[in-house]
Amino acid sequence: MLIAPSLLSCDFSVFRDEIIRVDQAGADIMHLDVMDGHFVPNLTFGAPVIKKLRSATEKPFDVHLMISEPHRYAGDFADAGADIISFHTESDSDIDETLKLIEARGVKPALAIKPGTSPAVVLPYLDRLYMVLVMTVEPGFGGQSFMPDMMDKVTYLRKEIARRGLDTLIEVDGGIAKDTIATAANAGVDICVAGTAVFGAPDAKEAIDELRALCE
Ligand code: DX5
Ligand code: ZN
Repeated sequence: MLIAPSLLSCDFSVFRDEIIRVDQAGADIMHLDVMDGHFVPNLTFGAPVIKKLRSATEKPFDVHLMISEPHRYAGDFADAGADIISFHTESDSDIDETLKLIEARGVKPALAIKPGTSPAVVLPYLDRLYMVLVMTVEPGFGGQSFMPDMMDKVTYLRKEIARRGLDTLIEVDGGIAKDTIATAANAGVDICVAGTAVFGAPDAKEAIDELRALCE
């Protein structure tokens, strides 16, 4: 299991140091939540901030766009150094056009689905996706409870990915903690995002080690 700490729960006054801290603690991927106060009722940061943070680590930047018009901004996030760009199927942008834009920049494209969205929505694009992000909470805030019902979507996607012989990854995001990560692992998840479980723990390395061990 790859562990992707969500920087949404870090101490933003020392954002760069927090990336370095979880890098040294063994994080596999840095999950960066971009919110526009429109697609979700919360605001975070944009491409200029990510660009400044890029040199803090060599680990991949997984940029999760919770914005209404990803097509307008995806290029900026690519230029800022994103390795993976996830955008929501529920956004206002055309999915095919937005994927094309991300692909043209050589960035790994991913589609994200909210809890109320059927995983069937991503099927027409599955062959082009590096990853599917299955939300296990309503996007917008850290610290919410994991929705175990979402594992049916993971099972469904896992099956379809295998049937087509693809190597598309499945990521889950929201409420991942010591008591929920095994459920995700058993369903066939590849990457777990964890905000509160990593940044709310006294020792990030212990927290990450423990989360990973619970998947074995
Ligand atoms: C929520 C974000 C998540 C969030 C996860 O909209 O996409 O990445 O930070 O936080 P936890 O792990 O605390 O649920
Ligand atoms: Zn996220």
